[in-house]
Amino acid sequence: MLVTGAAGFIGSHILRYLKLRGYRVLGIDSFERASPECVEELKAVNAKVIKGDIRDLDLLRKLLRGFNAVIHAAAYVDVAESVREPIKYIANNVIGTAVVAEASATARVKRLIYLSSAAIYGEPVKIPVTEDHPARPKSPYGLSKLLGEEILKFYSSWKGLESVVLRLFNVYGLGQSRPYTGVITEFVRRATRCEPPIIFGDGNQIRDFVNVVDVARAVELSLRTELPARFVAINIGTGRAVSIAELARLVAELSGARVQPIYSSPREGDVRYSLADISRAKKVLKWEPMIDLEEGVAELLRWFNRKVRPQPRGRGS
Ligand SMILES: NC(=O)c1ccc[n+]([C@@H]2O[C@H](COP(=O)([O-])OP(=O)(O)OC[C@H]3O[C@@H](n4cnc5c(N)ncnc54)[C@H](O)[C@@H]3O)[C@@H](O)[C@H]2O)c1
Repeated sequence: MLVTGAAGFIGSHILRYLKLRGYRVLGIDSFERASPECVEELKAVNAKVIKGDIRDLDLLRKLLRGFNAVIHAAAYVDVAESVREPIKYIANNVIGTAVVAEASATARVKRLIYLSSAAIYGEPVKIPVTEDHPARPKSPYGLSKLLGEEILKFYSSWKGLESVVLRLFNVYGLGQSRPYTGVITEFVRRATRCEPPIIFGDGNQIRDFVNVVDVARAVELSLRTELPARFVAINIGTGRAVSIAELARLVAELSGARVQPIYSSPREGDVRYSLADISRAKKVLKWEPMIDLEEGVAELLRWFNRKVRPQPRGRGS
């Protein structure tokens, strides 16, 4: 199968996960926003990533020969940047998804797994959010992901392309190196340097953090589960509500960093509440998260500590 955005944070974890489980996999990425750590991990397992833009229809058609599934993770993902440069997001994420859908349909790909986002819901009217909650994105990024879903819904009925839309909540894990990604990575990175976390807003905003390895597992299940319909949207979160202030306390406790958070003004495009109802993932995919937040944050802390203070090599190693 082909994984788009395979040099990025989530795409690379998926590529690696599937490769280690014996799937025949190939990645594509422009490398414009690649995660250097994740690219290293891919090299270690001999996973191949072609350099190219997903908006190149001919290239995609060629790469798709002989594959029956696509995992589409390529996108620009910076909410704040999308507020400043909305057209850039429409041009990349929406057109990119349209090209992936068209190439998949003409190459007779059977199933497409699309990494969508909780950002499509916007500010929820009730939490936890179920998949039939109204979609009212608050940022051009959220809009671009929603329009991607609409394109796939259309291709499912028009060309029979099976689509599983995974609406990811806040994903965290090893190798999320870019500054725009995840609050957990940012808090952990700062804690390992004994710097205080910066909280935008009052810290009472709610998030649902899901580990990237659990996401990779959900993708694998999406590839092999029989679907109730040709187009299915599924929330991938944990259903556990964590406030940003609580997260800051958890990171401080696990890292031992004696720091007080710095409060800054809220960011445009950020929602106040984000929490998944994951009943559908449990029912359709037989999936539920296996890595709890404490365990995931502790692992991230160990990883950052090794990066900041590399372990001395033993003699003879
Ligand atoms: N990180 C999260 O918390 C989160 C939450 C919800 C949804 N998602 C979705 O998951 C997917 C992956 O996100 P991520 O966090 O790994 O982001 P990321 O920026 O780490 O990875 C995205 C990758 O896509 C590549 N890319 C972008 N446009 C491209 C193009 N036109 N052609 C080829 N490659 C291109 C980038 O170079 C990058 O390597 C995205 O679709 C995002 O919308 C992420």
